[in-house]
Amino acid sequence: MEAKSLQTFSPFAGSRHVGWKSPSNIALVKYWGKRDYQLPRNPSLSFTLSNSFTETSVEYSYTRKEKPTIAFVFEGKSKKSFKTRVEKYLQTVGVYLPFLKHLDLKIKSVNSFPHSSGIASSASGMSALALCLTSMEQRLFGTPEGRKNFLNKASFLARLGSGSAARSVYGDYVLWGEHAAMEGSMDEAAVQIDIAGKDRWELGDAILITSSEKKKVSSSVGHALMEHHPYAEARYEQARIHIPQLAEAMKTNQDTAFQEIVENEALSLHALMINSNPGFTLMNNNTWSIIEEVREYRKKTGTFVAFTLDAGPNVHLIYRKKDKEQILEFIHSELIQYCENGYWIDDAIGSGPIELN
Ligand code: PMV
Repeated sequence: MEAKSLQTFSPFAGSRHVGWKSPSNIALVKYWGKRDYQLPRNPSLSFTLSNSFTETSVEYSYTRKEKPTIAFVFEGKSKKSFKTRVEKYLQTVGVYLPFLKHLDLKIKSVNSFPHSSGIASSASGMSALALCLTSMEQRLFGTPEGRKNFLNKASFLARLGSGSAARSVYGDYVLWGEHAAMEGSMDEAAVQIDIAGKDRWELGDAILITSSEKKKVSSSVGHALMEHHPYAEARYEQARIHIPQLAEAMKTNQDTAFQEIVENEALSLHALMINSNPGFTLMNNNTWSIIEEVREYRKKTGTFVAFTLDAGPNVHLIYRKKDKEQILEFIHSELIQYCENGYWIDDAIGSGPIELN
């Protein structure tokens, strides 16, 4: 499949253009801990979002120069730290996309959510760029052939930029990481999974921003701290158990099991951070207040609702779209006081990336 892309292509005049809009995703079963090059220590399961996305475009032209140029513009401005990350990423994926060394690139990227909102943009950003690179290969060489191979390669490339980005190339529910009970699953790339009775799992995600500050400890440092963590093996096993349990809970419409697994996953993730060595805390007092409010609200109303967390202090409130009115009422009356400047993002499950003209 990759052989053709290893050949050189005929030089072309002028510049060509490709663009993708790719969403972020929220993990229900979390990936935390990696091995070798960006391979997960345990499988993870997420759903893809709809309103939190990155739009990336790449203008590429043939060059004979020894060292091609890379220009990177983020939201109309050049941003040194992002450019360095993109350059490093392009170097890494160059092994799989050798044609890149013959191209000058002008990359432009914008996010739908404010950059300083505390929302991780690596999943949407890296998947958008990986999709652009895969499209370039397809246009230049005709590979990967077909939609399935295309998405598999895009997911593989996205993974090399950020593990969770591997899941963002697909819509709906997505699994990344090999699991004996999940057919077709693999560590190298994510796969879309079919949840029986999916209609009942049309979920909303209200992202409650408790702090927009930059994280004190990056995800890469957090993943690395799992290496000598005393609870690492137990954690990987817990995630392996949670994957089929969650799929079964969804298939058989067990709301309580869903809530328990999802919330337990979020708390396990943060517990592992707290008792890493050195330990660190990403949750804040408002994160805890929201968690308590959610537990209270569920007890009082019986409404289906669950909280989850990424590697940060912001709370994802997962609910059924059909209950949106009630949930909005809950947010406005009880939760908004814990959000920084009253800010939250109204998001929901989505159908995945879209190619831009
Ligand atoms: O993709 P990374 O390396 O930023 O790691 C993301 C890890 C979590 O967001 C905490 C969990 C996950 O599975 O998305």
